[in-house]
Amino acid sequence: MLAGKKIVLGVTGGIAAYKAVDLASRLKKSGAEVRVVMTEAAAAFVRPLTFRTITGNPVHLRQFEEPRVWNVEHVALAEQADLVVVAPATAQTIACLALGLAPDLLATMLLAARSPILVAPAMNTAMYLHPATQEHLATLRARGVVLVGPEAGTLACGAEGPGRMSEPAEIAAAAERLLAGGGPLAGRQALVTAGGTRERLDPVRYIGNFSSGKMGYAVAESLAAAGATVTLVSAPTALAPPAGVRLLEAESALAMREAVLSCWETSEIVVMAAAVADYRPAAPATGKIRKTGGDFTLTLTENPDILAELGRRKQGQILVGFAAETGDGHARGLEKLRRKNADFLVLNDVTRPGAGFGADTNIVSFLYPDGQARELPLLSKREVAARITEEIIRLLPQ
Ligand code: CTP
Repeated sequence: MLAGKKIVLGVTGGIAAYKAVDLASRLKKSGAEVRVVMTEAAAAFVRPLTFRTITGNPVHLRQFEEPRVWNVEHVALAEQADLVVVAPATAQTIACLALGLAPDLLATMLLAARSPILVAPAMNTAMYLHPATQEHLATLRARGVVLVGPEAGTLACGAEGPGRMSEPAEIAAAAERLLAGGGPLAGRQALVTAGGTRERLDPVRYIGNFSSGKMGYAVAESLAAAGATVTLVSAPTALAPPAGVRLLEAESALAMREAVLSCWETSEIVVMAAAVADYRPAAPATGKIRKTGGDFTLTLTENPDILAELGRRKQGQILVGFAAETGDGHARGLEKLRRKNADFLVLNDVTRPGAGFGADTNIVSFLYPDGQARELPLLSKREVAARITEEIIRLLPQ
């Protein structure tokens, strides 16, 4: 899969550095030419000789030591790489990359890199959850750096929570996907919305819904795996965006509309999986609303229907809508599909066991403008997403 590809593997100082040995071996076995750049802290965990033996190449460690050609060589390495993988990536290296700092050889090389960069964070849970780290990761994500993991579990320090580096097999698979560049949707731009919007009443309250975002995130992941360049416009969720997907955050229906319209014209595939609130408070209070001892009436005003708006503007894009219905929603779904001018609609009855909000599975039907329907069995949301991707590939003009 990776024959002829030049991969620079950056290894930083965490206990997961030992897993980077397995990763280096996997990349090498897939045919890649692997060059390892280690930080000094990484060399305290794993000896450079191990990587040298596995990769058959010298290991690069210090910036200003022998060989003296290094100053030039690190730039050359960065320039020639088809992919740079940093695994494990400590909070420190992530911060350097986000801020553009270059205190060591690896950070310098990362700044000079022109290739895609894949980062597998690994650190203590508290460090991972620290707002500084989260902001740096968001910066990297917005720049198109592909993040793999971290996973949740028991960490070496004994803590429970997110921070464990993803398994080498998963990181290697992400590297292969990134470098394959092929896939049936290669070169196609896709836009996916996900999650439930929040409509503010005042600075501390909002009207929301039970959407978890899982379905939309799975669609974004599936389209990316098929080679599409994916922008995910997401309302607040508890999910990490899939590797390689550009994330635009949008809290409310109005913000989501704005984000969607900002990238709608360049998108050939649009999947509207978000649960967009139909109404928002007509006049959100600037200060906290106080109780008065009596009833409280809130006036709501209708939100724009984003899908319908795109349906009106559609010029050859494949537009996919969702409909969450209670009870048999076939007729309502079909009416919605036609009214909003979508190419197909994913209908789910959120009251059925195994379907709907928060679940990892879903039971859906695909509805088409000519009235045809295709019922799918109970599937994981990831499998439903794969079926949606297949359907999009079938409908796309070649
Ligand atoms: N949708 C949208 N903008 C809205 C409301 C819905 O883009 N303001 C999109 C959703 O993302 C979904 C589809 O429209 O793809 C159907 O959403 P749903 O809430 O089921 O439909 P509504 O038009 O709100 O119909 P109703 O409230 O009558 O069920």
